[in-house]
Amino acid sequence: MIRRSTDSVPASDSPTTHLLPSVPLLALDRQYEVLREEIRDAINRVCDSGRFVLGPDVTDLETDLAKALDVPHVISCASGSDALLLALQALDVRPGDEVIVPSYTFFATASAVTRLGAVPIFADIDPVTYLIDPNDIARKLSPRTKAIVPVHLFGRTADLDAILPLAAKAGLPVVEDAAQSILSTRGDRCTGGLGDIGCFSFYPTKNLGGAGDGGFLTTTRDDLAKSLRLLRVHGMEPRYHHEVIGINSRLDTIQAAILRVKLPHLDAWTTARQTNATRYRELFTEYDLVGRIAVPGDDPAGRHVWNQFVVRVQEGSRDDLRAHLGRHGVGTEIYYPIPLHLQKCFTHLGWAVGDLPETERAALQTIALPIFPELQADEQRTVVARIAEYFGASAVPKATDEQGGLKAPHFLRRAVGKADDVRC
Ligand SMILES: Cc1ncc(COP(=O)(O)O)c(C=O)c1O
Repeated sequence: MIRRSTDSVPASDSPTTHLLPSVPLLALDRQYEVLREEIRDAINRVCDSGRFVLGPDVTDLETDLAKALDVPHVISCASGSDALLLALQALDVRPGDEVIVPSYTFFATASAVTRLGAVPIFADIDPVTYLIDPNDIARKLSPRTKAIVPVHLFGRTADLDAILPLAAKAGLPVVEDAAQSILSTRGDRCTGGLGDIGCFSFYPTKNLGGAGDGGFLTTTRDDLAKSLRLLRVHGMEPRYHHEVIGINSRLDTIQAAILRVKLPHLDAWTTARQTNATRYRELFTEYDLVGRIAVPGDDPAGRHVWNQFVVRVQEGSRDDLRAHLGRHGVGTEIYYPIPLHLQKCFTHLGWAVGDLPETERAALQTIALPIFPELQADEQRTVVARIAEYFGASAVPKATDEQGGLKAPHFLRRAVGKADDVRC
C-alpha cells in the first residue's frame, strides 16, 4: 500500500485546497515497501557469504546491465563521480588539456576534469531542452581539447546526432555523463553505448538508485574496458604490481545485490515516469498554465527517462513559487541554482556572469517537480493545483527585467540547500 502524508495545511486555505495532500519530491520508502523482503534477503545473503567487495553479485550485475543497455562492457565503480574521473583518466586526460562540459549540470561533471589538472571549458545549453548546445561546443574546440562530455540531463539524451560527428571530425572522444539517463535512448541505442565511454550513477535519487553510493561505466571499446577495470583497482595487475596509478573505486557487494533486486523493475519504473510526465502536461493545459510555465516535452529522437521534471517560470517568480509549494507540503528542488562556471572554486578559471546566458537564465528560472514512479495521479493534480493557486494569487511576477530574462547575479547572493539534501 502506498503511504502518503496528509499534513495539515494552513487554516486560511480555501475548502478545496484544504483537502489537498502534501507531495514529496521523492518517496523512496514507497519503492522499498514493495521490495523490502527481497532486499533484506539479498543483504543477508551477502553478509552470510562474507564477501563484501566485488565478487559474483557485482559480476552478475555488470552482466545484467550490459544486457539491459546492449553494450559489450560494463565496469562498476564506487560512484558516478568516480566513473567520470576514471573515464577521463582512461582517455589520458592530463594537466593542461581542455575538456568541454556543460555548466548547467551537477558539479562532478566538471570536478573530474580539474582533479586531473585539466581545464573545464564550459559550453552553453539549448534553452528548450537544457542540454549542451552543439554549436557552442563547436565554438569552444581548440587544439588543446582532449574530450567532450555531454550530459544527458534530467533523463533526456543530449544531441549526440550533432555532437558525435563534430567529435569524430576533430578526432576527439565523447564521454557521456549518463548519471541521470539510464535506459534513455537515441534512436534504438541506449545512452552509454553511443560515445566512447558512458558514466552512470546509482545515487539513491537516480532512476536506478542503490542504498548508498555507487556507479558504473560502459564502453563498446575493448581497450578502454581493460584500462577502466585496471584503473578502478589501483592499476593493480597482478596483485601488488602496479603499471599505472589508478584509484580504489569498487562497487560494494551489498549495493550490487540490492541493485540486482531493483534492475528488473527499472523498465516499468521508467514507463511510470513517462506516464507522469504526460499527465503533468495534460494537467498544465487543463489548469491553463501553459503560458505561464514552460513544460518539458518528450524527446522526439529517443526515449526520455524523466529523472527530473523541470519546468521554467518567469524570472523573479521561481523562488516565491517554490516557497508557496513548500508551505503547502509540495516538495521541489532547484537543479541547479548556481551554474558551475560561476562557482567560487572555479573563480580562477576567469568566467563571469553573462558568459553563458542560457545556462544562467535556466539557473534562475527552473524548478523540479515530483516525478518519481510511485507518484499518484491525485498527487500530481495537487502539485498543479497549488501552482495554479500561486499564479492566481500573484498574477504579476515580482522582479522581472525588461526582457523577462536574466537579472544580474542574485543567485550568488541566495542561500543554497544543505549539501546533504536530496540532490542529483
Ligand atoms: C549529471 C551528474 N553527473 C555526475 C553525478 C555524480 O554521481 P554520484 O553522485 O554517484 O557521484 C551526478 C549525480 O549525482 C549527476 O547528476
